[in-house]
Amino acid sequence: MREDVQVLFKNRRPGETLFLDGYRAAGGYQALKKALTRMTPEEVVEEVKAAGLRGRGGSGFPTGQKWSFIPRGKPGIKYLVCNGDEMEPGTYKDRQLLLADPHQLIEGLLIAAYALQTEVAYIFLRYAYEDCARRVERALAEARQAGFLGDNILGSGFSCEVRLHRSAGRYILGEETALLNGLEGRRPNPRAKPPFPVNEGLFGRPTVINNVETLANVPHIIGGGAAWYRGLALTEDGAGTKIVGLSGHLEKTRCVELPLGVPLGEIIEHHGGGVWRGRRFKACLPGGASTAFLTREHLSVPMDFDALTAARSRLGTACITVFDDRTCMLAATLNLTRFFARESCGWCTPCRDGLAMVVWLLEKIEGGTANQDDIHMLQDQARNISGQTMTGAMSGPMRKDYVFKVGARAFCPLADGAMAPVEALLRLFRDE
Ligand code: NAI
Repeated sequence: MREDVQVLFKNRRPGETLFLDGYRAAGGYQALKKALTRMTPEEVVEEVKAAGLRGRGGSGFPTGQKWSFIPRGKPGIKYLVCNGDEMEPGTYKDRQLLLADPHQLIEGLLIAAYALQTEVAYIFLRYAYEDCARRVERALAEARQAGFLGDNILGSGFSCEVRLHRSAGRYILGEETALLNGLEGRRPNPRAKPPFPVNEGLFGRPTVINNVETLANVPHIIGGGAAWYRGLALTEDGAGTKIVGLSGHLEKTRCVELPLGVPLGEIIEHHGGGVWRGRRFKACLPGGASTAFLTREHLSVPMDFDALTAARSRLGTACITVFDDRTCMLAATLNLTRFFARESCGWCTPCRDGLAMVVWLLEKIEGGTANQDDIHMLQDQARNISGQTMTGAMSGPMRKDYVFKVGARAFCPLADGAMAPVEALLRLFRDE
């Protein structure tokens, strides 16, 4: 059906990895050649902007816009970092991309490095992804040998080194500023923003941080052009395809590439084979553990950034976890919250003490010893930790309507993300 639109997964074969010969035979590194020989760095940025690519790591920030923030013409080192610290529960899409086609990421990374004029790039990879690390290492060696990496790439005068860094293995390292501290060899506490990494990032230098899937899109945008790329999505404002990872109570749990904008219910029924064991759908997390639950009434919502935000959740990583009608949503939320509480870096009080308090309250409710005051306290904690969601009009090139948070008290998005399922539990499953 709609799986025939294969862009990022076009080289994916079950149980196989495509290395250099196969990648080149499939047209690989042609986009890099095009960028280096026929485009200026500014033109590459403009093409990615025009393509409407938005970050695939979870927050959906416009990629071309992020690239254009990097100070140009300023002397000194700039960095590009690929965030492959995929540790969001239920999320496994970057792993599939790296296992199938590591050169696709390297080509995207090199085109991005050229666009940004950065000569050093890092791939920051999840500790548990040793299978990916070995494939990336081999692909980097092959690319260097073939002249796609290192000094004077393809005789263009542009040079770039790419280094693989294995994460120390905690969830907080996926937060971009904690990642930078980790890369510098420091304790991975998140940093205050602003300054944003594009101005002051790795070793204090301007740094762009992009997710694996985001960068994997770049060769296709340069190769196929912005208009073709935009046209891949089913929604008017959307652009491109999305890797969707399915997990939970489904007949088929697998990772598929779909155009942005396929309705949630169609993905669950057609690509996930429907809810397992003949049971009914109760709820899902549409984009990882830090997104709010959706219910039956949301099954017609298109899987795209703005539509899911309007449904009071988020596209996040687009890795969908489904819960059948026998699931206790309280127990499911408690399970998720325990993860976030354990992974808190402990730096700020709302996260360190607040998440522990939320776990305690959920355990009390689960154990049947809670009263109404505890429910109020839970609501209060959720509000205190993540602030209040507001919708407002925002001018400028970003978007017309913007959903933003007021009064968030936690230092970084970890606790805020942890509160998304809790807030949805209170809103949608209060009776439980
Ligand atoms: P964010 O919305 O704060 O920032 C997005 C990106 O845009 C960042 O790179 C930031 O530096 C940049 N940015 C934003 N405003 C800017 C400005 N005014 N000037 C310059 N740059 C600006 O989101 P954040 O904190 O990077 O990511 C949170 C997201 O990560 C969550 O939405 C969650 O879904 C996702 N996540 C993903 C995980 C995974 O395994 N893939 C794990 C945990 C969370």
